[in-house]
Amino acid sequence: MTLSKTDLYQEVAQQAQALMAGEKDLIANLANLSALMYMRLPELNWAGFYLLKDNELVLGPFQGKPACIRIPMGRGVCGKAAETGLSQCIHDVHAFDGHIACDADSNAEAVLPVYQSGQLLGVMDLDSPHTGRFDQDDMTGLQNLVNILQDAIA
Ligand code: SME
Repeated sequence: MTLSKTDLYQEVAQQAQALMAGEKDLIANLANLSALMYMRLPELNWAGFYLLKDNELVLGPFQGKPACIRIPMGRGVCGKAAETGLSQCIHDVHAFDGHIACDADSNAEAVLPVYQSGQLLGVMDLDSPHTGRFDQDDMTGLQNLVNILQDAIA
């Protein structure tokens, strides 16, 4: 039986809770959450994190092909999410002015800001080869995963 999108995110959220329960180590939690999302969410070619360091986003734990290491604030989809504090749900990355192509297979992207103790820590980034892969249900499910992460590392 195929799970509905809402049920799938519910299951993944429970697994994320279980993986991060009582664990405050940032890298361990980011690494496990990247692996969990890449393993459970269909049609992804990249899932991971960029961390804010000296006003620049620096590559963190991820699953997928090697990616660009440094993204200036405001640049690309990740830099826009970091600069504005607003999640980005990009239907077609080729229509996004300034998109940074790390993997030529990526056609859609979802980026959500992540906070630690009220300060911007970085962004969660997911790429898909399928145009229009991410919708509002995905953004709600992904925001819930960010909330679980933020609670764990607070
Ligand atoms: N496409 C992103 C860069 C990071 S990769 O997708 C892993 C962007 O435009 O910010």
